[in-house]
Amino acid sequence: MSEPTIAQKSPIPVEVEAGTDYWWCSCGNSKKQPFCDGSHKGSSFTPLKWTAEESGRKFFCACKHTKAPPFCDGSHKAL
Ligand code: FES
Repeated sequence: MSEPTIAQKSPIPVEVEAGTDYWWCSCGNSKKQPFCDGSHKGSSFTPLKWTAEESGRKFFCACKHTKAPPFCDGSHKAL
C-alpha cells in the first residue's frame, strides 16, 4: 500500500448529523477535505464510510496517518 498524501497536519472539525453517512478521504488528495471527492480513482485508496449515530462536532483526520480513522488520534504530531 502506498503512502497517503498529507492534506494538512491538523484535524478538520465538522458538525455531523445523526443518521448521515460520511465518506472520509483516506488518500489525502480530495479537494473537499476531510471527505472523498473521487480523486482517489486509479490509486490503491478507497474512502471510508462512517455513519453518525448522534449529531455534534467531530474532528476528522486530515494527515491521513491516524490509527483510528476517520478521526484524529494525534498522529499528525509525529509527521
Ligand atoms: Fe481520497 Fe476519495 S478522494 S479517498
